[in-house]
Amino acid sequence: MATTLNINGQERSFEAPHEMPLLWVLRDILGFTGTKFGCGMAQCGACTVHVDGKPVRSCVLPVGNLQSRSITTIEGIAATPVGARVQKAWLDLEVVQCGYCQSGQVMSAAALLVSTPDPDDSDIDAAMAGNICRCGTYVRIRAAIKQAAAAQKA
Ligand code: FES
Ligand code: FES
Repeated sequence: MATTLNINGQERSFEAPHEMPLLWVLRDILGFTGTKFGCGMAQCGACTVHVDGKPVRSCVLPVGNLQSRSITTIEGIAATPVGARVQKAWLDLEVVQCGYCQSGQVMSAAALLVSTPDPDDSDIDAAMAGNICRCGTYVRIRAAIKQAAAAQKA
């Protein structure tokens, strides 16, 4: 079935069943491979993207529900001011270890800083709790979110 989605500010049309999860469309049909598959059950956060600015797990989100919504992936987040600040902080503090979870981490962090521009530790823990990192980069993630928040205030 033909579907058109707005992804990173561009209309993208493709053929897929309406019940196909967004993650499959992004990676396998449209080539946005920055968003990762982890658990496939909304448990790990590796597949996090934004829909209308809110973080969602794309592995369990049917594409048929998303027409006329605005989708942002890791490939498009640097085009937003907050996304650019988050990515800069991630690089400055060398947050990444293996990298597999990090697209999802960056997307959740960027959404947090839009809703809560100056988060404390409990805000960060609550917003990031669903993003699992097997390499244990949590301390650097928290520091990078605080650096991005400080840059936002400056
Ligand atoms: S792959 Fe979607 S939450 Fe794990
Ligand atoms: S950096 Fe390896 S899983 Fe998070």
